Parts: sequence; C-alpha cells; structure tokens
Amino acid sequence: MSKAASVKKSEKEFEPKVLVFACNWCSYAGADTAGVSRLEYSPNVRLLRVMCSGRVHPSFVLKAFVEGSDGVIVSGCHFGDCLYMFGNYKAQEQYGKLKSLVELIGLEPDRIALEWISAAEGPRFAKVINDFVETIRTLGPSPLVKRNGR
Ligand code: FES
Repeated sequence: MSKAASVKKSEKEFEPKVLVFACNWCSYAGADTAGVSRLEYSPNVRLLRVMCSGRVHPSFVLKAFVEGSDGVIVSGCHFGDCLYMFGNYKAQEQYGKLKSLVELIGLEPDRIALEWISAAEGPRFAKVINDFVETIRTLGPSPLVKRNGR
C-alpha cells in the first residue's frame, strides 16, 4: 500500500477522542438525563466529573491535549445556577485565556468549547456532544497527538 493510500485510510478511520469536564450539579446530571431518556450521543467522549466548571484550570485542559485528547469541552451550570455562585463566571474568564493558550501551542481554537447545560437538558447535552465530535472529526487528529505518535 502506498504511503498516500495509507494516510487516507488512517484519516478515514479517525475517531476523535473528546474529554468533557462536566460540572457535577448541572452538566453531569444533564448527561444522566440524556442516558435515562435513551438519547444517543457519540461514544467518542469521556466525561470527567468536576464539582464546578470554575474548578477547571486551563492547565487541566492543556494536559488533556498532551495526554491525547483531540478536543475538550468544559461544561457547567447556566449563569445564575452555579452552586458556588460565581464558578461559571470564573470558567468563562479562564476560557478566554485558554483560547489564546490553545492557539499559542498550535491547536485550532475550535478544539475547545465552553457549554452551559442544566440537569434537565438531556437533549441539549446530546446535541452539544454530537455537534462537537463532528467539528473535531472535520478538524482531524490533534497536531499534538500526531506529533507524539499516539
Ligand atoms: S456548580 Fe456548576 S458551574 Fe459551578
């Protein structure tokens, strides 16, 4: 098989690895609601439950990319619903910095997303996940993953 054919084949087989930092009180419960409602969402995601979106330091997201993620979502409660009052505002502030950092290390900014999903929004959770996975599929494997040969 030629190298070009081999590369094409591997691009076709690309299955994105997406990490979702999900706030325990809203987004993680939203994932539960999606599951209980038997809504299908992409199996390309792994959920990491955190106590608040504001707890997700930008370094956690960068580490996820270094460890092989092709895309990362930080999700939390809608404004006004954060159990810790201002955690999601902090998350939004950190996200702005994170976008710049992600670009600085050579990744497309679309590889990260910040989403507000409540416990009742199972359909929204499934849609956000499916749309994001398709975005990452379009972008292809993370350049960091390719560089590290994972
Ligand atoms: S507790 Fe959910 S974002 Fe803060």
